Amino acid sequence: MKFNSIKRFFPLYTSLILIIFSSAVSPGANDLHFYDGVSTADVIFGDVFFEILDPPELRYSYRIRPAKDFGTPFNESIQFQDARLVPTVPLHSCSDIVNHDDIVGQIALSERGECSFVFKTAKAQQAGARAIIITESVDKWDDSLDHLIEMVDDKMELDVNIPAAFLLGRSGATILRTLRKLKKSYAVVNLPINMTHVPISKMNQPPWISWIL
Ligand SMILES: *[C@@H]1O[C@H](CO)[C@@H](O)[C@H](O)[C@H]1NC(C)=O
Ligand SMILES: *[C@@H]1O[C@H](CO)[C@@H](O)[C@H](O)[C@H]1NC(C)=O
Repeated sequence: MKFNSIKRFFPLYTSLILIIFSSAVSPGANDLHFYDGVSTADVIFGDVFFEILDPPELRYSYRIRPAKDFGTPFNESIQFQDARLVPTVPLHSCSDIVNHDDIVGQIALSERGECSFVFKTAKAQQAGARAIIITESVDKWDDSLDHLIEMVDDKMELDVNIPAAFLLGRSGATILRTLRKLKKSYAVVNLPINMTHVPISKMNQPPWISWIL
């Protein structure tokens, strides 16, 4: 059974392929000048970035893709400083969230599967979250799931009033496993961080991200 409506983000991949192609035919393709003429704004489109401040093992910036047609926008009203990114209990966020005391006013982190993205968002909102980030299922994740997906409404017509975004499975799995290992119930984050004028080479992406994703 497939609950989540998935649509790969083709325009992004198309432009990446164009970038890769043009780098392959130009001299110096293996050095950073290969990004000449391509601004960060060109490659991030409507994506949003957040950074983890604590734990130090996860201190990088992460790209997330806002849901396409549900939830509210990541506009100027959405400003988290030293906020908590809290894995929901249960992690799939398909039933009532038990750790609502930790989540109220903060950002929920949930994994994909079991129910729709919109349903997870509604559950997080019910628990008092001010935003939700959804990633791949931590136990099912593998390299083949390494895509930023565009979450779409499944026509359940739930009214959700918080923003929702998708985080790459590799990063989500690393964050969830690291928090588990450290027995921490949250990470400290700033969201969003403004990457518009940050050169691609200075974006402080996690070392496990090999491309600008
Ligand atoms: C952000 O979006 C929400 C929901 O659409 C809206 O209520 C709020 O006024 C917006 N804030 C700004 C600053 O545009
Ligand atoms: C990001 O920062 C630039 C200046 O560096 C500013 O012009 C732009 O409006 C900012 N974008 C957002 C979304 O805050």
